[in-house]
Amino acid sequence: MTSQDSDNESIMRRDLQSRRILVAVTGGIAAYKTVDLVRRLLKRGASVRVMMTDSATRFVHPTTFAAISGQRVSTSMWSDSGEPRVDHLELPHWAELIVVAPSTANMLAKLRHGIADDLVSTALLAATCPILVAPAMNPTMWDNIVTRENMQALLQRGIKCNGPNSGEMAAPGEKSGEGRMSEPDEIEAWIVDHFHNSKPLAGKVVLITAGRTEEPIDKVRVLTNRSSGRMGAAIAEEALHLGAEVIFVHGGMDVEPPLGACQYYAPTTLQMLDVVQQHAGNADVAFYVAAVSDWRPAQTFDGKFKRTEQDGDTFSIELVENPDIAATTAKSVKGLAIGFALEVSDALDYAREKLQRKNLDAILFNRETNIGAHEGALTWVTADESIELGSGGKRELAERVLRQVLERMKLD
Ligand SMILES: Cc1cc2nc3c(=O)[nH]c(=O)nc-3n(C[C@H](O)[C@H](O)[C@H](O)COP(=O)(O)O)c2cc1C
Repeated sequence: MTSQDSDNESIMRRDLQSRRILVAVTGGIAAYKTVDLVRRLLKRGASVRVMMTDSATRFVHPTTFAAISGQRVSTSMWSDSGEPRVDHLELPHWAELIVVAPSTANMLAKLRHGIADDLVSTALLAATCPILVAPAMNPTMWDNIVTRENMQALLQRGIKCNGPNSGEMAAPGEKSGEGRMSEPDEIEAWIVDHFHNSKPLAGKVVLITAGRTEEPIDKVRVLTNRSSGRMGAAIAEEALHLGAEVIFVHGGMDVEPPLGACQYYAPTTLQMLDVVQQHAGNADVAFYVAAVSDWRPAQTFDGKFKRTEQDGDTFSIELVENPDIAATTAKSVKGLAIGFALEVSDALDYAREKLQRKNLDAILFNRETNIGAHEGALTWVTADESIELGSGGKRELAERVLRQVLERMKLD
């Protein structure tokens, strides 16, 4: 496997990060396949809750789902202790997607007619999010005109369906035909597609540099700055939220890099440049958010430089100029290249000059007080316009920044 393959795999693996998926298991033999489906969704980073019908618990014990999901499995509207429980409302309202797998003929009929006589059917009636059913049943049950009409009516109401497949049935001796539940990897692919395609940045690669570079003076000291990495992390979170594949190249940060992004720790300017060069050609958008040191010590001392080694009362460090990451790589970015400029005076003129000099499509003019702070204020500057994005929390600002980007990409 090449390093590119392993990068792609790590992007792929977490692509359902924090997606809230409610899996409803109903009473068919194919329920055993749903164990694998839940495991696959969890591996992709999804938050998965499971609810089961009474019949389903006869095929797979709830403990199996509880153990792999690490969550309580809901099997009834009623609690043994008599305490009121509202799983039938809480679970569907929590979910972004409900997957009924396997879906019995009985559950399709109940869903069609709005029957709410157990936890699963009541939760389905209370759902406002999309519902996917994966029917599984004996071919004669699937071929029955009643089941066909139920399915047709559900499709017309916007319920999604995956499968069933043709082939061998789970029980020995059962006649083969159409009615076999889709394989877990097919349902998984449907779910991934569903989340990606409903997002404006689906299939787009967003490259982000963030945080502060740290240029070593000796083995323990570094030349750095006060950037916290919050703005870059907020842009990454927003881009992930919009469905992008995010490549997050960072130095020192006061916050955790966002989960779900493909992360590179590149603390020096030269290391950061190297990673950006590898990915720029593939990036639909590149955000140069990192506060990169303009200089680095000409030499790095071995070990810790001691007072006794200094010349009299002073210690001088010779600095050499670092390459400018944005200016060096913006031209090779496949799509939009967006820089950040932090200036104190003559801001707009300076931002425009920087825009041209570095071949950027836009610059976000950043106030000095933004550095290291939780809140900030930004201005979006292009060759022909300057738009105040206002002030606010960094996630809020990131949302406004991405809105400008979507407009430019004509993706909103
Ligand atoms: C061994 C066995 C296997 C079954 N397999 C299926 C099946 O694959 N599909 C189906 O629709 N019903 C199947 N049934 C029938 C359902 O379990 C039955 O209709 C039940 O009422 C469904 O309840 P539920 O929809 O609340 O889970 C099976 C029943 C048994 C005993």
